[in-house]
Amino acid sequence: MEDIEFTSSLEEIGEAELQGFFVGWQRAPTPARHLELLRNSNHIILAIDVQSKKVVGFITAITDKTLAAYIPFLEVLPKYQEKGIGKELTARMLEILKDFYMVDLLCDPDMQSFYENVGMNKATGMMRRNYDKQSGI
Ligand SMILES: CC(C)(COP(=O)(O)OP(=O)(O)OC[C@H]1O[C@@H](n2cnc3c(N)ncnc32)[C@H](O)[C@@H]1OP(=O)(O)O)[C@@H](O)C(=O)NCCC(=O)NCCS
Repeated sequence: MEDIEFTSSLEEIGEAELQGFFVGWQRAPTPARHLELLRNSNHIILAIDVQSKKVVGFITAITDKTLAAYIPFLEVLPKYQEKGIGKELTARMLEILKDFYMVDLLCDPDMQSFYENVGMNKATGMMRRNYDKQSGI
């Protein structure tokens, strides 16, 4: 983790720094769409490889700035997983969101222990997915 830095700035980030994300998505958003969703989120944290200057992990949050925050995305590139980056991104985002009444996210059951480890609680949720819009509107 000593070769990883964390930032909320997009100043030095372009499409070239955002390669390889949305692993397994059938219609993955392009790096341009990725950059767009980062710009439009209320809060972001990026994990950057200090050598390559590329983004290797990210987390986003959207909020109503009053009561509720939602965390739509957390991803660490496969090569960089299991080094503590995902946990650090999540812990940092929960710190940013600590004054909100509600901080919610959806995840598969096998991810629940990961989020419990950073202080979140299991819940039941609902969702709808418009798969024809998976790469962006
Ligand atoms: C989930 C993800 C972000 C984890 O990132 P990571 O950097 O590999 O995670 P960390 O190295 O910080 O792991 C922290 C701890 O969680 C555990 N962990 C990692 N992935 C896990 C998983 N899928 N399920 C349960 N525990 C997990 C690690 O073993 C580690 O445990 P430890 O603290 O006891 O050593 C990463 O695997 C990923 O990008 N997956 C694909 C996208 C995804 O599923 N995102 C989440 C959507 S809800």
